[in-house]
Amino acid sequence: MDSKLIETLDKLNREHSLELEEYQLLIENINPDLMKRAAEYAVKYQEQFYGKKVFVRGLVEFTNYCKNDCYYCGIRRGNRECERYRLRKDDIIACANEGYQLGFRTVVLQGGEDYTYSDEDICEIIKGIKQSHPDMVITLSIGERERSSYEAYYEAGARRFLLRHETASSELYDKLHPEEMSFEHRMNCLRELKDIGYQVGAGFMVQSPGQTAADLAKDLKFIEEFKPDMCGIGPFISHKDTPFAKEESGTMEMTLFLLSLLRIIYPQMLIPATTALGTIDPKGREKGILAGANVLMPNLSPTSVRKMYTLYDNKICTGEEAAECIACLKGRVSSIGYEVVTDAGNRAGFIEKR
Ligand code: SAM
Ligand code: FES
Repeated sequence: MDSKLIETLDKLNREHSLELEEYQLLIENINPDLMKRAAEYAVKYQEQFYGKKVFVRGLVEFTNYCKNDCYYCGIRRGNRECERYRLRKDDIIACANEGYQLGFRTVVLQGGEDYTYSDEDICEIIKGIKQSHPDMVITLSIGERERSSYEAYYEAGARRFLLRHETASSELYDKLHPEEMSFEHRMNCLRELKDIGYQVGAGFMVQSPGQTAADLAKDLKFIEEFKPDMCGIGPFISHKDTPFAKEESGTMEMTLFLLSLLRIIYPQMLIPATTALGTIDPKGREKGILAGANVLMPNLSPTSVRKMYTLYDNKICTGEEAAECIACLKGRVSSIGYEVVTDAGNRAGFIEKR
């Protein structure tokens, strides 16, 4: 293998930082030997901070209504083919409670940007879950809101927030989103969430339409500098009823390589092996863990609505009951010598502000 590539990867392993051009060089020259070396470094850090443990978070997809029109997303408001649903507050709380019975100590409430749920509604849901289960850690993934709203949810008891930045290139951001959406605003939300004290998850799509190696290099540099507690990445996968229906999906190889690089960049970070990765390859999530990921997010949504939360074509796990999903994941994880743990799973070294 090219000694310049090895030197660059080894520099990253030593310094946990590279210049943009160096990240770009690695991405442009991805090859099986380089992936293998990166995965070896990544697994070493994974072991150091998390042993052979894989954390699970139960995902409740509670609404597929969205005010946004992201060109890649199957539940964008412009998709007239999408059958819409919205879970009642009680049903959302019941899903979380079911998750608790199944052993989950953290739940992710995710949805499109649906302002039908007011701040009061979101706070009621959070308090409703915390009331029955004070030790349940609540993660929100409901998009961009005002700082005052984020503060209210924190006060109500939410402690984590997932908001992928989608891309750290403002030019690419503008190609993936309509004009009314703002790169700066999204990035600012991430800074505010961190400032309030949330454990924050950023993240990006791999090989989204028009994305270059230079764009991906910016994503890695952003993660290196911003240091989110979690970084979720998955391949872009086309959806038949979106403007990107005919675009090519991202590859497993590039996603795995980036997972390893992320682990080396910030060894303590929580890194999920995503459903999108499991969708492009039947063993995608296992391979993701072997490349450095340490989190899985099985679905806790009622099976009656699962198929309607279709962000991209052929999404997996839309038929199984929650209990089946967790049993399936435990089997997959143990088949590669790891172990599913159901505790809340903080980022290694995280100290709560207040
Ligand atoms: N509305 C919330 C938000 O904007 O953060 C959360 C829901 S959103 C559907 C969750 C994530 O799905 C997005 O951040 C995006 O990265 C991912 N996603 C959407 N469409 C996708 C696609 N076609 N392929 C892969 N990932 C996709
Ligand atoms: Fe809103 Fe995808 S466009 S969640």
